Amino acid sequence: RDKLQDINTIEDTVRLIREAKNIIVLTGAGISTSLGIPDFRSDKGLYAQLQELGISDPTDVFDLEIFQDDPQIFYNIAHMVLPPGDVYTPLHSFIKKLSEEGKLLRNYTQNIDLVESNAGIPDDKVIRCHGSFATATCQSCDFQVDGHELYPAIREKSIPLCPHCKDEREKDDDALFPASFGVLKPDIVFFHESLPKRFDTSIVEDVKKCDLLIAIGTSLQVAPVSKIVVQVPASVPQILINRDPILDCEFDVNLLGLCDDVAVLLSEKLGWTLNHEKFNSI
Ligand code: OAD
Repeated sequence: RDKLQDINTIEDTVRLIREAKNIIVLTGAGISTSLGIPDFRSDKGLYAQLQELGISDPTDVFDLEIFQDDPQIFYNIAHMVLPPGDVYTPLHSFIKKLSEEGKLLRNYTQNIDLVESNAGIPDDKVIRCHGSFATATCQSCDFQVDGHELYPAIREKSIPLCPHCKDEREKDDDALFPASFGVLKPDIVFFHESLPKRFDTSIVEDVKKCDLLIAIGTSLQVAPVSKIVVQVPASVPQILINRDPILDCEFDVNLLGLCDDVAVLLSEKLGWTLNHEKFNSI
């Protein structure tokens, strides 16, 4: 994709947001770091932390085949990615404001932390591309439970078991069952797993309707979400709000900095008040 002509500045961004009616907001872990949730690939991100714990390939902990062989590998670290309490950031408030102004076509989030809901972004506007902790499913019988039911076990680094398969598993002295028999897994998308169906059905129509794309707090390293920037027609302007530049994507405007600060600045220029306590203190 080639850069569009005459779209370079934050003023251009403000004008594009004013004019837009169908914005795709594509978000990643960087929008939640100000809540103390680590991103994945930064120096102090989750993958660096896991390497310090001696895990040579940190993506292994989110690999379905490895989970099926030994669910304890994931449950040793799952407490590090549990969703926070009822908090959200100025950036999340900004997305909510886009929705209130009738401009948000969809927020494609790679985050599993459910913070979009805390901010009040309507569920029909959010596609959780990598699933979430909202629900969990038994690996043997597909019984689904509320994700919160797993939190106590996750905090203790123990393996949560399905209420229906548990007895059978515990009876099996000879351990003839596979390691993941009766194990509950949060419905977050692991490597080797498909994205939620809602992603596939929405993206096809949304890229046709989209009149502005804003990517925020993501390194765009993981497909298929990273491909959204090339699925949108080349004539649609694309803005990046990120702490670090993304070298292999051509954005029309790169607003480099902390995304909460950029959200506050854009809101000021748009004449919007963000419903957020941090707004006045930045
Ligand atoms: P990454 O950790 O790859 O990228 C986060 C980006 O956010 C980096 O480019 C940072 O510079 C930027 N960033 C961090 N804090 C920021 C802040 N306060 N303001 C602005 N930018 C900030 O995270 P993702 O792109 O979300 O998938 O990673 C994508 C996927 O990789 C995740 O969903 C996860 C992982 O493997 C699965 O687990 C399936």
